Amino acid sequence: MTQSVVISGTGLWTPQQSISNDELVASFNRYVQLYNESNAAAIEAGELEALSPSSTGFIEKASGIKQRYVLDKEGVLDPERLCPSIPERSDDELSVQAEIAVNAARQALENAKLTADDLDAVLVACSNMQRAYPAMAVEVQQALGMEHGWGYDMNVACSSATFGIQAAVDAVRNGSARRVLMVNPEICSGHLAWQDRDCHFIFGDVATAVIVERAEDATSDNRWEILGTRLQTRFSNNIRNNFGFLNRADPSGIGARDKLFRQEGRKVFKEVCPMVAEQISGHLSDLDLPVEELRRMWLHQANLSMNQFIARRVLGRDPSEEEAPVILDEYANTSSAGSIIAFHKHNADLPVDSKGVICSFGAGYSIGSVVVKRVK
Ligand code: COA
Repeated sequence: MTQSVVISGTGLWTPQQSISNDELVASFNRYVQLYNESNAAAIEAGELEALSPSSTGFIEKASGIKQRYVLDKEGVLDPERLCPSIPERSDDELSVQAEIAVNAARQALENAKLTADDLDAVLVACSNMQRAYPAMAVEVQQALGMEHGWGYDMNVACSSATFGIQAAVDAVRNGSARRVLMVNPEICSGHLAWQDRDCHFIFGDVATAVIVERAEDATSDNRWEILGTRLQTRFSNNIRNNFGFLNRADPSGIGARDKLFRQEGRKVFKEVCPMVAEQISGHLSDLDLPVEELRRMWLHQANLSMNQFIARRVLGRDPSEEEAPVILDEYANTSSAGSIIAFHKHNADLPVDSKGVICSFGAGYSIGSVVVKRVK
């Protein structure tokens, strides 16, 4: 018989500082003004294109985002910088990304009624790692005080959390770990081109954590059995970031726009949404789960219209707020963490036996769905 596996605890760490759309737009527009003034002659001569201002109205209408949390507000809002200021730490100090991962992990452990020693494995699953090595997961393992076990990092961009849950489930099922911590420390302010009007409003920072363990071991008050996981990838250049260790092998590209997040937003929207809806519907059908039994969809939080489109396709009607909870108005797109924030904040109200799906999607393209049932 297949080993039954549950999510027995989740954790969320939210930065203290937030930036409203109005604050963001004011600093961006000041940057635009300064840029256009200092390049007035070249713009006049037709050698450079003038930059256009951003607007709160556009941001909210196009994305549903109202604000975002960040590690460093001052640097991001400084029109002469438009980048977070996060001082480097010495090798003896806990790195920033490990620190926020540990914050979320501690809460997940507490909710799962576990201590770090109960864990066998740590997966750090997110869009950007602070360094090449040692793996962030190994640092998190040590910082939590785990005296045994193993950890590794994995990156499937916005889908990292659902891919991480599948990796955790596989490890628990095949016996290579009894309990796995899967954590998503997303410092998206570091890969966002705050100077680019098309995307400057998209991302925020956060960390989320999920504990996956054998159903028979779990003792927490809130448990969700994992009924199935499904992953899908299909190559696309429409969301891409060329930052990497080989950049210095061609200095001509260092600092170029393609070394930060960029996307063809319209194409992503058009291509990914139908794939996601089809995956969720197919996944439910293969699990013999009629869509009428689906109480909730904890979707990746990139864009409100995307989520409404997907939920509508899956349900065959407009979703209620309870059926597809939204957190992107407050958090913006937090890459892999978004669907886990939604799950963390919006699952406790559902009664035992409720079924739902956690689904993330993004660069790759990549799509992951995790169908769950509340068992405690
Ligand atoms: N302020 C004001 N106007 C802006 C603007 C801004 N910040 N950014 C763009 N515009 C303008 C554009 O120039 C364009 O003007 P035009 O019609 O005169 O050419 C117009 O607004 C529409 O721009 P467009 O980029 O087509 O907007 P959109 O409706 O597609 O919304 C996104 C943009 C990014 C919010 C949307 O495409 C999206 O969310 N896509 C999917 C994103 C996603 O999931 N990515 C995955 C990452 S994990």
